[in-house]
Amino acid sequence: MKSVVAVGAQWGDEGKGKVVDYLAGSFDYIARVAGGHNAGHTVIIGKERHVLQLIPCGILRPKQHAIIGPGVVVDPSALVGEIEMLAKGGISVAGRLHISNRAHLIFPYHRELDKAAETARGTNKIGTTSRGIGPAYEDKMARRGLRMVDLLTPELFREKAARVVAEKNRIAQGAYGASIDFSADVEETLKLGEKIKSYICDTAELTNRALDEGKSVLFEGAQGTMLDIDHGTYPFVTSSSATSGGATTGMGVPPTKIRHVLGVSKAYTTRVGGGPFPTEMPDLEAKEVRERGKEFGAVTGRPRRCGWLDLAELRYAKMINGIDTLAITKLDVFDTQREIKIGVGYQYKGTELKEMPASAEEYERVTPVYKTLPGWCEKTYGLQDAAKLPKASLEYLRFVSDFLQVEIGMISTGPERDATIIQPGTLLARWL
Ligand code: GDP
Ligand code: IMO
Ligand code: MG
Repeated sequence: MKSVVAVGAQWGDEGKGKVVDYLAGSFDYIARVAGGHNAGHTVIIGKERHVLQLIPCGILRPKQHAIIGPGVVVDPSALVGEIEMLAKGGISVAGRLHISNRAHLIFPYHRELDKAAETARGTNKIGTTSRGIGPAYEDKMARRGLRMVDLLTPELFREKAARVVAEKNRIAQGAYGASIDFSADVEETLKLGEKIKSYICDTAELTNRALDEGKSVLFEGAQGTMLDIDHGTYPFVTSSSATSGGATTGMGVPPTKIRHVLGVSKAYTTRVGGGPFPTEMPDLEAKEVRERGKEFGAVTGRPRRCGWLDLAELRYAKMINGIDTLAITKLDVFDTQREIKIGVGYQYKGTELKEMPASAEEYERVTPVYKTLPGWCEKTYGLQDAAKLPKASLEYLRFVSDFLQVEIGMISTGPERDATIIQPGTLLARWL
């Protein structure tokens, strides 16, 4: 059985889009299981640049199927926009896109509530993508969410929506002394539903059947381990399960059917939004890396915070996800870096920390312990062969691999599809 979860091992934007696109050619189904259009996955093929937010990158391959599982929250207008964007680029999703009938819907009022909640948090704001992700998952957990399946029977949809609107308005009246008019949202969503209803199906049946028939499935993670609702830097996290376990609940595929976990990490670390980030670089250094790595959000355009690779964080990500092979992206961004620092642990109040702090306040105050390695000051950009990598870059990678006790199966040396090195003899190489 060939089933692999590709998971972000840091705070998102690790280059999952690039890595999944590369591997997608060797899989039959590519599936998203969590998050929504807060994700932005960039794929560069020749001169074309695609940023996918909801539809898995596999859709860019000619024959692959793309699945949006029940764990995803879908904004129908974002989805229709993405389908139309792909169509303009000559990519048809017909017969290849499958959306779970159990996936929850994001309404325009979720976006409004997201923004209002951020404003109310003031200086403690999370820095969300303001796509309505948190409020939509809140409604799901409060058991008042509307789902894809509801779009299939408009009369029932209107009835259910009226009940939700009444409940929401009771809350809004209490909280803000005003009610909100959601009626336009309901009709607008039904109209969009007409455009997507042909893709709605039971994706757990589809995916399990595919695996039983010997087809291969690649789960495309969104966000990253440290943004996971349970394991991340709470409350500076997203509202879904961004770790490998999320693939089982977020699709309805049992853990026994998932064979491998691929962790994706940059050669350094970035984070968008608020929250602790122990190995964050001082402004000037961060600016250089940001410019070289073009570290601006694929969705919001916000400058990403930049820092050194944090092996204490990656060790934790390896444990939580069960990572058995790693893809290291953006090695080329260090091509002109004279010395490279690498976080190997944390100290808190002068003592070495053995575990990841659960409290964001404590994590904010840890001091990273660094090891400094020499840079290679040579071009790795675009390399496709590990034998051509400069010695110092191989030493950097070996240090990471030895520390984490995990193989590095893929090294990405540029944003383009073919700027990729596959390490022969690794687990990852066997999937191709
Ligand atoms: P994702 O959310 O994990 O898919 O990552 P994003 O697409 O949001 O951000 C990763 C950015 O890095 C994108 O702009 C990619 O085109 C770019 N990228 C990916 N891999 C590499 C690489 O190896 N080198 C360079 N220079 N850029 C890369
Ligand atoms: P991909 O899949 C990076 C961050 C936001 C914010 C926090 C909560 O492209 O890696 P949300 O809108 O989800 O409620 O925001 O999570 N965030 C991401 N950061 N990459 C992402 O996705 C992200 N999705 C959410 O910046 O800090
Ligand atoms: Mg991204």
